Formats: sequence, structure tokens, C-alpha cells
Amino acid sequence: MLDPVLLDEIRSRFHHVDNCPYQGPRIFFENAGGSLTLKSVVKVNTALSAIPDNQGRDNPASRELVRIIAAAREDMKTFFGVDDGVVFTGESGTEVLFRLVRAAILGSPQGGNVVGSTLEHPATASARSKWCPVAGKENINIAHEKTQTLVTAQDYLQQINSDTRVATIIQTSPVTGMAIDVQAVARAIRTVAPQCFIIVDSIQHAAHGVMDMGACGVDGCALSGYKVFSRHNYGVGWASPRMSTLPHEKLDGTADDFWELGTRDTGAFATFSEVVKYLDWLGSQVSDLSDRRARLEAAGNAMMAQEAHLVDIAINGADGQPGIRTLPGAYIVGGPDNPYREGLVSYAFAGIPSAEVVNALNQRGIRTHVRKADYFSGNILDPLEMDSCIRTSFCHYNTKAEVLTLLEALTEITQA
Ligand SMILES: Cc1ncc(COP(=O)(O)O)c(C=O)c1O
Repeated sequence: MLDPVLLDEIRSRFHHVDNCPYQGPRIFFENAGGSLTLKSVVKVNTALSAIPDNQGRDNPASRELVRIIAAAREDMKTFFGVDDGVVFTGESGTEVLFRLVRAAILGSPQGGNVVGSTLEHPATASARSKWCPVAGKENINIAHEKTQTLVTAQDYLQQINSDTRVATIIQTSPVTGMAIDVQAVARAIRTVAPQCFIIVDSIQHAAHGVMDMGACGVDGCALSGYKVFSRHNYGVGWASPRMSTLPHEKLDGTADDFWELGTRDTGAFATFSEVVKYLDWLGSQVSDLSDRRARLEAAGNAMMAQEAHLVDIAINGADGQPGIRTLPGAYIVGGPDNPYREGLVSYAFAGIPSAEVVNALNQRGIRTHVRKADYFSGNILDPLEMDSCIRTSFCHYNTKAEVLTLLEALTEITQA
């Protein structure tokens, strides 16, 4: 749990922590829809969006843009926890994942199969279903376990064989909040299919813990700026050395591992450097470490601990305030005592439509989100025979007082 003075300092670094410009005072529990934005991100982005120059010219402004981008690539690698390969930006996390999955499916040896799970976001699931038939590869979907909403290394092992060319893994579900042990899954895959291209969707996880793709031994990964304290309109991808040179769309004459399509938005790179700078600072506040990567890991662990504390209060209650689990008619997706939960609780109340609860919370200045059994969340909610749920998603800058306010409101709404 974060020290209250540090928590105040953390909150002061973000825009709109407790106030919505369109609504007034509000508590923000919609972090899985997009995190709060760092003030430094807005500042740097505003400054750079006014610069008319382009990269690759012989003038001081252009040289500075090139320097900013090169520095940001290093920051991105430090964030991903990798020493090699390439990092690149794209239009969104979805677009980056589609490109990685497409390149792996089309560029891996002919035939064979591709394995993923029903826990995945459509960003990887739809890419698999689009490109497997084109490449003549079987698309295998592991059904996730419904009680805990998980897929495990064992589940992957049951489907992987020596013909598995590509595997996709979601690191954390934005619907249930459960985190998958990516390292264990990747290790298991490699015991049977050592050459398999393994691609990880870290878009939900990135703001809620440590990223360590190097230790996981995977080939590709993506995240989205707006879900990790930065802004909309870019995703960041990483491709391992062998993944980076698979055939992919690129301009003729560029290097085999070149993935950028068109002029780069320097602001996207610069704002990501601000995210890494923030985490470096946070790491320095919660540890005595001096190495940048080590500080990022310390920051990730501190964020995880703070979120676990908030989740515990939300589910179990505190200070005499009942938690969600004891509210009348409550059902918590993935169960109330799930150790894999990462900063998010999805739930529904028997007899009250989730949309009504979200609306009643909004009227009390508490932002959550209704997840419906549609093309984003149907894979999770349909097997549970739920048409919707209320997603309440936290971040390390949220407070105990905010969670208690949520519980008071839910008590009122469910007793009305
Ligand atoms: C796990 C996961 N994958 C993919 C996406 C899509 O990301 P984007 O909106 O950047 O395309 C999201 C968005 O919330 C997500 O949580």
C-alpha cells in the first residue's frame, strides 16, 4: 500500500484525477478503458505538435526530433524488458497486434497450426481467424476455464504440438482482470514447439505491473499509449530479432527489420519517454535502486501492491463498509478470492441490469463501465450466461477513500 504523502504526489502528476471537465467531481474507476494522462505527457505533446519540421533533415529541429525518437526507442525497450529486437509505433494497439500476428502466420513455415485462447481480446483473436485460413493453418482456440477465467501453461500444452507455428497470449484480460503467467506458458510452448512465434497482448497489463518480455522468451508484444498514462492514437510494438525480419509490409529499400510505415509522430515517442520517466521516478520513491530498469520493476511491483489493496477493499470491504461480495445478489466474475486478479473487478447483481448500476454510479460521480456480451466481451460473458457486467477498474493512483465511496454507493443502489 502506498504511503499517503507519496500517493498525493502521484495524484498531482495526473490530469483529471478527481474531476471530469464535462461532469464535475468524479472518481475514476474506468482505467481499463484508458488510464489517466500524465501532465508531463500533455506538456511534451503540446510542444512537439507545434513543430513544423520533419525527421531526417539537416537542421537543428530535425536533428532534435530524431534524437527524441532514438531515446524513446531505448526507453521503450527498457519498459518491455528487452535488450534486442525492434520497437515501433503504429496506429493503435490493435493495429500493431494485427501486423505482428499477420507477419507470424504468413511468414512462418507452411501448414501447421496457430494456438490462442478464448480469453483473448479480438485484437489477436480476430487476427488469427482472419489470417489462418489465408495461410492454410489450423486456428486452435483453447477454451478458458470459466470459474477463475484463466488459461494455464497446462492448457496450452494440451493443444501445442510440433506443428504449432504461432501462439498468442493475452497477458491480462480487460474484462475479468485475471493475469496469465506468460513466462510459464511460453516455456511450456517452447518445450514442444521451440520455433513457435509467440506474441503477447500486454495492452491491459502494461499499467498494472512489471513488463519483462526478455525473461518471458517471447517474440512479439504490443501495448497502447492511452492505457499506460500516455495518450490516444498510438500503439507500441516490440519484435524479437527473428520476428522482426519475417516478411512484412515495409517500404522497398528499407532494412529487413524496419516496421515503421510513414512519417513518425515524434509526440508519440516523446510521450512514452515521459511514461518511463514517471515510472523511473516512482521506482526511486519506493526503492533505493539506482538502475533504471530496476526502478521500473520496483514501480511495477508498487503499483501491483497498491491495486491489490484496492481490490481487496472493493471485494471484502473495510472500516465496517461491506464489500461487493456481500451485497445482495452479487456475482463476481472469476470469483471473489482469485489470486490472479490484477486491479479490476467485474460483477453483476441479480435483478438489476448492469447498465442501470453504471448509470446510478455515474449520477453519484463514480465512473465505471458496463461490459456487454458483444464482440469484445461475449467470449467471457456468454459461457457464464451473463448478458453484462459492471467493470470497476483501478490504478495505483486510486485511493482507499474512493473505493469506500464506491461501496457506499453500491450498498445504496442495491438496497433501493
Ligand atoms: C487486452 C487488450 N487488447 C487490445 C486492446 C485494444 O487496444 P487499442 O484500443 O489500442 O486498439 C485493448 C483495449 O482495451 C485491451 O485491453
